[in-house]
Amino acid sequence: MNSLYKKSLLKITDFTKDEIKKIISLSKILKKNRKNKKEVKYLKNKNIALIFEQESTRTRCAFEIAAYEQGANISYLTSHNIHLGYKESIIDTIKVLERLYDGIGYRGISHQTIKVLSHNSNVPIWNGLTKKYHPTQLLADLLTIEEYIPNKKISEIKLAYVGDASNNIANTLLELSFLIGFTLHIVAPKKYWPKLNIMQKIYQTNKKKFLCTEDIKMGVQNVDFIYTDVWVSMGEEKSEWDKKISLLKKYQVNQKMLSYTKNDDIKVLHCLPAIHDKNTKIGKKISKLYNLHEGIEITNDIFNANSEIIFDQSENKLHTLKALMVATLKKDIFKI
Ligand code: CP
Ligand code: NVA
Repeated sequence: MNSLYKKSLLKITDFTKDEIKKIISLSKILKKNRKNKKEVKYLKNKNIALIFEQESTRTRCAFEIAAYEQGANISYLTSHNIHLGYKESIIDTIKVLERLYDGIGYRGISHQTIKVLSHNSNVPIWNGLTKKYHPTQLLADLLTIEEYIPNKKISEIKLAYVGDASNNIANTLLELSFLIGFTLHIVAPKKYWPKLNIMQKIYQTNKKKFLCTEDIKMGVQNVDFIYTDVWVSMGEEKSEWDKKISLLKKYQVNQKMLSYTKNDDIKVLHCLPAIHDKNTKIGKKISKLYNLHEGIEITNDIFNANSEIIFDQSENKLHTLKALMVATLKKDIFKI
């Protein structure tokens, strides 16, 4: 039986550890098939909708290409081109869409909205980012981590998340480490630690492999991976930069931080987009305002030295989203 069939993914722990493993194994098969030009179209005649209330490069494009390559049709919907919330309630909207589509990807700020969509829908809903969680990102990251540590079990890795740990990526990492059982260090100013209720599960079950600290040296020592993300996330006011930057500045991923790991083979992850140089409007402005000329959350040299793994994370969205859609829409996929 395929327990993933018709299942929604709002947060990582909606799936069991075994189900996550199945998605990652399927991603590896689909990635290999694509590379060898032997793609089998498992989603022929399926219709997929993306409701994106926020901007996206990777997640949107990966959803779309994954669907096309699997033979599915896809519609890209935003709050500007459908009656979502303004003239028609979210509940009425989903009741229309579930009669037309087989699965729905959603991106928006409010996690409550995706919960409402899922409670009122007979078709699976996949979370492409809310302010609270970003599970489809972490599936891609998990595949990437496995690819870069072929000789280690995933439960044996040590990862430090550094920077704004009150955001969706940190919350989802907590969930993932709780489920998979790898070592997770949250290294951030106390003000930007994850909320206690999100840390509770991990304290109860995985306490020995979990550390939440403001101490950079202690937090990054002997880890295999450092993961960072932007300091101001989607849905936050621009004025947050002023409030956050003085505390977050010393948590920039730079050469000094990497030397504290005492690991010559340290790898740096970033979900992207990253502000690592002055080639963006925001990068230019922030670097000037706060005297951060080498980069913001990560310096340009460290970003470039790790660009292969970082862009692998990005590409792996395609393979893991494909696996997610196939596993939840094709009942007999694990028998094939
Ligand atoms: N990492 C990520 O979700 O990127 P996008 O915002 O481009 O989708
Ligand atoms: N924390 C970031 C992740 C972007 C993929 C944000 O929510 O903007």
